[in-house]
Amino acid sequence: MRDLFGTIAPKYDFITRVFSYGMDRGWKRMAVAGAALPARAVVLDLACGTGDFGKLAASHCSGAHVVAADLTEPMLRLAEIPDRACADAASLPFRTECFDAVFVGYGLRNFPRLATALEEVRRVLKPGGLLVTLDFFLPGRPSLQRIFLAYLYAQGAFWGLVLHRRARVYTYIPDSLRTFLPAEKFSLLLKKTGFADVTARQFLLGGIAVHWAKKSPPPCADIQ
Ligand SMILES: C[S@@+](CC[C@H](N)C(=O)[O-])C[C@H]1O[C@@H](n2cnc3c(N)ncnc32)[C@H](O)[C@@H]1O
Repeated sequence: MRDLFGTIAPKYDFITRVFSYGMDRGWKRMAVAGAALPARAVVLDLACGTGDFGKLAASHCSGAHVVAADLTEPMLRLAEIPDRACADAASLPFRTECFDAVFVGYGLRNFPRLATALEEVRRVLKPGGLLVTLDFFLPGRPSLQRIFLAYLYAQGAFWGLVLHRRARVYTYIPDSLRTFLPAEKFSLLLKKTGFADVTARQFLLGGIAVHWAKKSPPPCADIQ
């Protein structure tokens, strides 16, 4: 992962626009607006890449403090977010219950231990805090899955050859997606991990989705 993302870091923003047909910024803006962050929110941009989500959150929320975390040092440097940590999503170097919101843009498919990463996100969120994710998903219908994957392979190989003279550089997107899950199953996984009020919006026939999920507060102790 580190080698791959270290290689593509300088071209990352361009390739994100290409693979999202220019819609990436709009999806991210909508995801941040839907989060309704409190003033002075403390926000984690996890798998931050070049830090799009964190910067958008800061521009939407007065006094927000953004922390960036990513496995890849060259990505973190490009993000230019002063408070940052080189870290694996499955083992976050933050104290329990310190963030109002965690944003993850196109990171979920890359986490080898997705369930553990979600538990970590839940741990570092304050009770009632929000997880917001944007990612590729497998469209629900098998015929659509095949077409979507084939299209992503062709597009990845083309841009890999053009930008790096290596066809396989961007085929990690369909490679990571092939064994991933549909957006509805991700909603179920969020609920299973202890998130409530899970909502999702799908785009490109389910090939892309934004999820919002709240860390359920602990049950009230009975007052005698
Ligand atoms: C496709 S980029 C996403 C960048 C950005 N969040 C965005 O919305 O465009 C995926 C990022 O996930 C990071 N990453 C991959 N595996 C990770 C892990 N286990 N923990 C933290 N970050 C990881 C990569 O280094 C890379 O910067």
